[in-house]
Amino acid sequence: MIEIKKFTLTEEEFNKLRRLVFDSAGISLSDTKRELVISRFSRRLRALNLSTFGEYYNFVISPDGQSEMQNFVNSITTNKTDFFREPHHFDYLRDHFAPECLKLGRREVRVWSAGCSTGEEAYTIAMVLHHYLTEPHGIRVKVLATDIDTSVLDTARNGIYDERQVRPIPPEMLRRYFLRGKDESSGLYKIKDILKELVTFRQINFISENYPISVLFDVIFCRNVIIYFNNDTKRRVLNRLSGYLTRGGYFVIGHSETLFDMVDGLTYLKNTIYRKD
Ligand SMILES: C[S@@+](CC[C@H](N)C(=O)[O-])C[C@H]1O[C@@H](n2cnc3c(N)ncnc32)[C@H](O)[C@@H]1O
Repeated sequence: MIEIKKFTLTEEEFNKLRRLVFDSAGISLSDTKRELVISRFSRRLRALNLSTFGEYYNFVISPDGQSEMQNFVNSITTNKTDFFREPHHFDYLRDHFAPECLKLGRREVRVWSAGCSTGEEAYTIAMVLHHYLTEPHGIRVKVLATDIDTSVLDTARNGIYDERQVRPIPPEMLRRYFLRGKDESSGLYKIKDILKELVTFRQINFISENYPISVLFDVIFCRNVIIYFNNDTKRRVLNRLSGYLTRGGYFVIGHSETLFDMVDGLTYLKNTIYRKD
């Protein structure tokens, strides 16, 4: 039997680590997150052969630990996502956004999946818009998908998902946009190039000074990301993101989130969808 070493976390170590999480990712960890910190960083202690969280903290902030900083951030992010998660947002793209683009005679649309995790959200947006705008009407679709976590971005760029993950995708879209694995890849589904080409993945930390983005978007999805921030960080990030929306553009958040009193110039429509005035 393999015995997995358990580490104990002192109050001082917890406070140092959560301060560093806040400073590097903007993520606020409440007093109840001790177990989360232990479970997420224990893996890094084992990988680096360290004995205490204090040693790990000292290593991460040392000049030698610079390359560990990204692992530190990757370890603490929560990356839960799904294809067609909160499906009413994609119904809205199909029933309201797509017809509006046709009415306005748009030739190209841009969408930002901000906090994209392993890519399911960005590929869902691309599938729906390709299916309803590109294929029948030749309207080009570009999706920018960003996250702070380099490991989820690698998975997203790979674009390979298993049977359970692709279950929410309508069969017609699964056939159209995925290649089904055979033999040793059986049970795996690979995003076809026709869809992959529409999505650009890039690392962006919402709390960094500059976002390397010089275009505006027609729709921004920022779902299930701001729940990890305190009110001050939420306000700053949301106002910056909404600055990247075109007038009349849509801002979409997660079901447990609200923009109430956070952002100027966005009007609530319905179902956690807002519109820029
Ligand atoms: C729960 S996932 C949400 C994924 C997707 N938007 C959805 O709703 O299914 C939250 C994502 O936000 C990312 N995130 C957290 N803090 C961030 C930051 N400061 N900058 C950019 N992304 C961040 C995490 O890495 C994670 O992948």
